[in-house]
Amino acid sequence: MSVPVITIDGPSASGKGTVAAIVAQRLGFHYLDSGSLYRLLALHARQLDVAWEAEDRLAELAASLPAAFEQGQVWLDGNDASEAIRAEEIGIGASKVAALPAVRAALLQRQRDFAVAPGLVTDGRDMGSVVFPQARVKIFLTASAEERAFRRYKQLIGKGESANLPQIKQDIIDRDTRDAARAVAPLRQEPDAFLLDTTELTIDQAVDTVLRCFGQSQASGV
Ligand code: C5P
Repeated sequence: MSVPVITIDGPSASGKGTVAAIVAQRLGFHYLDSGSLYRLLALHARQLDVAWEAEDRLAELAASLPAAFEQGQVWLDGNDASEAIRAEEIGIGASKVAALPAVRAALLQRQRDFAVAPGLVTDGRDMGSVVFPQARVKIFLTASAEERAFRRYKQLIGKGESANLPQIKQDIIDRDTRDAARAVAPLRQEPDAFLLDTTELTIDQAVDTVLRCFGQSQASGV
Protein backbone atom coordinates (compact mmCIF):
# COMPACT_ATOMS: atom_id res chain seq x y z
CA MET A 1 0.00 0.00 0.00
CA SER A 2 1.35 3.45 -0.87
CA VAL A 3 2.32 5.90 1.85
CA PRO A 4 -0.46 8.48 2.44
CA VAL A 5 0.49 11.98 1.34
CA ILE A 6 -1.42 15.19 2.09
CA THR A 7 -0.43 18.16 -0.06
CA ILE A 8 -1.21 21.73 0.92
CA ASP A 9 -0.49 24.23 -1.84
CA GLY A 10 -1.26 27.90 -1.93
CA PRO A 11 0.05 31.46 -2.21
CA SER A 12 2.63 33.08 0.04
CA ALA A 13 1.76 33.92 3.64
CA SER A 14 -1.49 31.97 3.46
CA GLY A 15 -0.61 30.06 6.64
CA LYS A 16 -0.24 26.75 4.84
CA GLY A 17 3.08 26.00 6.55
CA THR A 18 1.58 26.45 10.00
CA VAL A 19 -1.45 24.33 9.15
CA ALA A 20 0.65 21.62 7.46
CA ALA A 21 3.05 21.33 10.42
CA ILE A 22 0.19 20.94 12.93
CA VAL A 23 -1.63 18.39 10.75
CA ALA A 24 1.62 16.38 10.45
CA GLN A 25 2.08 16.48 14.19
CA ARG A 26 -1.50 15.39 14.90
CA LEU A 27 -1.22 12.45 12.52
CA GLY A 28 2.35 11.55 13.50
CA PHE A 29 3.39 12.04 9.86
CA HIS A 30 6.59 13.51 8.44
CA TYR A 31 6.49 17.12 7.29
CA LEU A 32 8.17 18.75 4.31
CA ASP A 33 8.15 22.53 3.85
CA SER A 34 9.16 22.47 0.18
CA GLY A 35 9.55 26.26 0.03
CA SER A 36 12.47 25.96 2.43
CA LEU A 37 14.42 24.03 -0.24
CA TYR A 38 14.02 26.93 -2.68
CA ARG A 39 14.87 29.38 0.08
CA LEU A 40 17.97 27.38 1.03
CA LEU A 41 19.07 27.35 -2.59
CA ALA A 42 18.61 31.13 -2.87
CA LEU A 43 20.64 31.62 0.33
CA HIS A 44 23.34 29.18 -0.75
CA ALA A 45 23.64 30.94 -4.13
CA ARG A 46 23.88 34.32 -2.41
CA GLN A 47 26.67 33.07 -0.15
CA LEU A 48 28.57 31.70 -3.14
CA ASP A 49 27.96 34.82 -5.27
CA VAL A 50 25.91 32.93 -7.83
CA ALA A 51 23.21 35.05 -9.50
CA TRP A 52 19.57 34.02 -8.95
CA GLU A 53 19.18 33.88 -12.73
CA ALA A 54 22.16 31.56 -13.45
CA GLU A 55 20.07 28.48 -14.28
CA ASP A 56 22.79 25.90 -15.04
CA ARG A 57 24.92 26.80 -12.07
CA LEU A 58 21.87 26.91 -9.77
CA ALA A 59 20.73 23.48 -10.98
CA GLU A 60 24.17 22.10 -10.07
CA LEU A 61 23.95 23.69 -6.64
CA ALA A 62 20.42 22.30 -6.20
CA ALA A 63 21.52 18.77 -7.07
CA SER A 64 24.07 18.78 -4.27
CA LEU A 65 22.39 21.21 -1.87
CA PRO A 66 23.91 20.53 1.59
CA ALA A 67 20.51 20.82 3.31
CA ALA A 68 19.24 18.96 6.35
CA PHE A 69 16.03 19.09 8.40
CA GLU A 70 16.82 18.06 11.95
CA GLN A 71 15.68 18.96 15.47
CA GLY A 72 12.98 21.19 14.03
CA GLN A 73 15.61 23.37 12.36
CA VAL A 74 16.77 23.86 8.80
CA TRP A 75 20.49 23.39 8.21
CA LEU A 76 22.71 24.55 5.37
CA ASP A 77 26.17 23.11 5.24
CA GLY A 78 26.04 22.33 8.97
CA ASN A 79 24.85 25.81 9.98
CA ASP A 80 21.41 26.59 11.36
CA ALA A 81 19.77 28.60 8.56
CA SER A 82 16.23 28.61 10.00
CA GLU A 83 16.18 32.37 10.57
CA ALA A 84 18.24 33.42 7.55
CA ILE A 85 15.95 31.71 5.03
CA ARG A 86 12.93 33.63 6.36
CA ALA A 87 14.33 37.04 5.34
CA GLU A 88 12.03 38.82 2.86
CA GLU A 89 14.86 39.15 0.37
CA ILE A 90 15.60 35.43 0.43
CA GLY A 91 11.89 34.77 -0.17
CA ILE A 92 12.10 36.91 -3.29
CA GLY A 93 15.27 35.06 -4.36
CA ALA A 94 13.50 31.74 -3.75
CA SER A 95 10.69 32.66 -6.10
CA LYS A 96 13.26 33.66 -8.74
CA VAL A 97 15.30 30.44 -8.57
CA ALA A 98 12.03 28.45 -8.38
CA ALA A 99 10.99 29.77 -11.80
CA LEU A 100 13.93 27.97 -13.48
CA PRO A 101 12.95 24.54 -14.91
CA ALA A 102 16.39 22.96 -14.37
CA VAL A 103 16.28 23.92 -10.69
CA ARG A 104 12.84 22.36 -10.22
CA ALA A 105 13.95 19.17 -11.98
CA ALA A 106 17.01 18.94 -9.73
CA LEU A 107 14.87 19.17 -6.58
CA LEU A 108 12.09 16.80 -7.66
CA GLN A 109 13.40 13.43 -6.43
CA ARG A 110 14.72 15.00 -3.27
CA GLN A 111 11.19 16.06 -2.35
CA ARG A 112 9.68 12.68 -3.26
CA ASP A 113 12.13 10.95 -0.94
CA PHE A 114 10.27 12.48 2.02
CA ALA A 115 7.23 10.26 1.36
CA VAL A 116 8.02 7.48 3.83
CA ALA A 117 5.84 5.64 6.36
CA PRO A 118 3.70 6.39 8.20
CA GLY A 119 2.90 9.33 5.90
CA LEU A 120 3.78 12.83 4.75
CA VAL A 121 2.22 16.26 4.96
CA THR A 122 3.86 18.74 2.65
CA ASP A 123 3.24 22.33 1.63
CA GLY A 124 4.32 24.42 -1.36
CA ARG A 125 3.07 25.50 -4.76
CA ASP A 126 3.20 22.35 -6.89
CA MET A 127 3.08 19.51 -4.39
CA GLY A 128 -0.30 18.26 -5.59
CA SER A 129 0.24 19.05 -9.27
CA VAL A 130 3.81 17.91 -9.95
CA VAL A 131 5.64 16.38 -6.99
CA PHE A 132 2.86 14.17 -5.58
CA PRO A 133 0.12 13.98 -8.23
CA GLN A 134 -1.16 10.75 -6.59
CA ALA A 135 -1.52 12.36 -3.14
CA ARG A 136 -4.32 10.97 -0.95
CA VAL A 137 -5.61 14.48 -0.13
CA LYS A 138 -4.89 17.74 -1.97
CA ILE A 139 -5.71 21.07 -0.38
CA PHE A 140 -5.45 24.50 -1.98
CA LEU A 141 -5.15 26.83 0.99
CA THR A 142 -5.57 30.53 0.44
CA ALA A 143 -6.72 33.81 2.01
CA SER A 144 -7.26 37.31 0.66
CA ALA A 145 -4.10 39.32 -0.12
CA GLU A 146 -5.14 41.87 2.56
CA GLU A 147 -5.47 39.20 5.22
CA ARG A 148 -2.18 37.52 4.26
CA ALA A 149 -0.34 40.86 4.31
CA PHE A 150 -1.83 41.63 7.71
CA ARG A 151 -0.79 38.26 9.15
CA ARG A 152 2.75 38.74 7.88
CA TYR A 153 2.78 42.28 9.28
CA LYS A 154 1.72 41.05 12.74
CA GLN A 155 4.37 38.33 12.60
CA LEU A 156 7.14 40.87 11.86
CA ILE A 157 5.94 43.30 14.51
CA GLY A 158 5.76 40.40 16.98
CA LYS A 159 9.42 39.67 16.26
CA GLY A 160 10.28 43.31 16.99
CA GLU A 161 11.06 44.07 13.34
CA SER A 162 9.88 47.12 11.44
CA ALA A 163 7.12 46.50 8.92
CA ASN A 164 5.30 48.49 6.28
CA LEU A 165 1.87 47.05 5.55
CA PRO A 166 1.34 48.47 2.01
CA GLN A 167 4.85 47.34 1.04
CA ILE A 168 4.27 43.83 2.42
CA LYS A 169 1.00 43.58 0.50
CA GLN A 170 2.71 44.67 -2.72
CA ASP A 171 5.53 42.12 -2.22
CA ILE A 172 2.95 39.37 -1.65
CA ILE A 173 1.05 40.31 -4.81
CA ASP A 174 4.30 40.45 -6.84
CA ARG A 175 5.38 37.05 -5.56
CA ASP A 176 1.97 35.49 -6.28
CA THR A 177 2.04 36.94 -9.78
CA ARG A 178 5.52 35.52 -10.42
CA ASP A 179 4.57 32.11 -8.99
CA ALA A 180 1.32 31.92 -10.96
CA ALA A 181 2.72 33.23 -14.25
CA ARG A 182 5.79 31.04 -14.56
CA ALA A 183 5.91 28.45 -17.34
CA VAL A 184 6.86 25.53 -15.14
CA ALA A 185 4.78 24.27 -12.20
CA PRO A 186 2.77 27.49 -11.81
CA LEU A 187 0.76 28.13 -8.67
CA ARG A 188 -2.83 27.09 -9.36
CA GLN A 189 -5.62 25.09 -7.82
CA GLU A 190 -5.72 21.52 -9.14
CA PRO A 191 -9.16 20.28 -10.24
CA ASP A 192 -9.01 17.55 -7.56
CA ALA A 193 -7.83 19.88 -4.77
CA PHE A 194 -10.14 21.04 -1.97
CA LEU A 195 -10.31 24.84 -1.77
CA LEU A 196 -9.74 26.03 1.78
CA ASP A 197 -10.12 29.80 2.13
CA THR A 198 -8.82 30.77 5.57
CA THR A 199 -9.56 34.50 5.37
CA GLU A 200 -12.23 34.10 8.06
CA LEU A 201 -10.90 30.93 9.74
CA THR A 202 -8.68 30.35 12.74
CA ILE A 203 -5.68 28.03 12.47
CA ASP A 204 -7.56 25.38 14.47
CA GLN A 205 -10.52 25.51 12.10
CA ALA A 206 -8.23 25.15 9.08
CA VAL A 207 -6.42 22.21 10.71
CA ASP A 208 -9.72 20.51 11.53
CA THR A 209 -10.89 20.89 7.94
CA VAL A 210 -7.74 19.22 6.59
CA LEU A 211 -8.03 16.40 9.13
CA ARG A 212 -11.67 15.93 8.16
CA CYS A 213 -10.72 15.68 4.46
CA PHE A 214 -8.10 13.10 5.36
CA GLY A 215 -10.57 11.14 7.50
CA GLN A 216 -13.07 11.11 4.64
CA SER A 217 -10.41 9.88 2.21
CA GLN A 218 -9.59 7.03 4.61
CA ALA A 219 -13.25 6.12 4.97
CA SER A 220 -13.81 6.12 1.22
CA GLY A 221 -10.58 4.18 0.65
CA VAL A 222 -9.26 6.73 -1.88
O1 C5P B 1 6.42 28.85 0.68
P1 C5P B 1 7.56 29.82 0.67
O2 C5P B 1 7.15 31.25 0.73
O3 C5P B 1 8.59 29.47 1.70
O4 C5P B 1 8.27 29.59 -0.74
C1 C5P B 1 9.25 30.47 -1.22
C2 C5P B 1 9.19 30.46 -2.75
O5 C5P B 1 9.58 29.17 -3.23
C3 C5P B 1 7.79 30.70 -3.33
O6 C5P B 1 7.53 32.07 -3.58
C4 C5P B 1 7.81 29.92 -4.62
O7 C5P B 1 8.30 30.70 -5.69
C5 C5P B 1 8.82 28.83 -4.39
N1 C5P B 1 8.20 27.53 -4.22
C6 C5P B 1 7.88 26.80 -5.34
N2 C5P B 1 7.37 25.55 -5.23
C7 C5P B 1 7.15 25.01 -4.02
C8 C5P B 1 7.45 25.73 -2.85
C9 C5P B 1 7.97 27.01 -2.98
O8 C5P B 1 8.04 27.29 -6.44
N3 C5P B 1 6.68 23.77 -3.96
